[in-house]
Amino acid sequence: MKEITQELLNKLRSPAFPGSYFLSFEGIEGAGKSTQIIKLKTYLESKNYRVLVLREPGGTPFGERLRQAILETKTEITPLAEAYLFASSRAQLLNEVILKELAVPNTVIICDRYIDSSFVYQGFSRGLGIAEVLNIHSVFPLNIVPHLTFYLRINVDTSEKRQKMRNAPKDYFESKGVEFYKKLVVGYDMMAELFPQRILKMDAEVTTEQMTMQICGAIDQLIGQKKTLQFEEEL
Ligand code: TYD
Repeated sequence: MKEITQELLNKLRSPAFPGSYFLSFEGIEGAGKSTQIIKLKTYLESKNYRVLVLREPGGTPFGERLRQAILETKTEITPLAEAYLFASSRAQLLNEVILKELAVPNTVIICDRYIDSSFVYQGFSRGLGIAEVLNIHSVFPLNIVPHLTFYLRINVDTSEKRQKMRNAPKDYFESKGVEFYKKLVVGYDMMAELFPQRILKMDAEVTTEQMTMQICGAIDQLIGQKKTLQFEEEL
């Protein structure tokens, strides 16, 4: 298996559009991503940001077709084929939406899942290797990563309980069972260690309100930090 090298890690960069931010949410099924994304959107709009919420895979007409192809497949896909399918949807989303929209000042893009899902699901749980996923994402625009990623961490028991309450039919990944889920949590924890500056690992076993407060606090810090940096550059 390929090694994670500094050279591969150095290829990743966050977008540089002054006044605009790119955020993502990650976590296993039932972590509360959708709820928190809606709350964060409202919060940012109250601060006069233009907010766009996207989901992966999907977010473009072509991406939505890929989403269907992946999540509704009845036959097994190889991890490498999976990784390229998700990357293909991502490349389209970056060109068609993310990069164009971020160029408009005061825009925030919130992505429900992004590159870390590929690291964790394909790279780690499906066994392709993190380095291989990094390698696929070493070319522009796939090397673009969010300014900040919220990893909402719950344990597998909580995920199962929340899934039972929802009673929704299981997709391709959701039907893989408890062991697969346990591996996902380990994988996400590893990613939080590999990218400590970008990924904010948060205990999502707390109440919705507590979670929202923490997320909004982190956003205030990010926006404050960036303003300071821009100000210093102007001096
Ligand atoms: P979705 O229904 O959006 O999942 P959730 O509601 O849990 O957010 O389905 C997306 C599925 O695709 C999810 O199981 C994670 C998986 N996935 C990958 O395996 N790799 C990826 O790169 C992405 C973006 C998603």
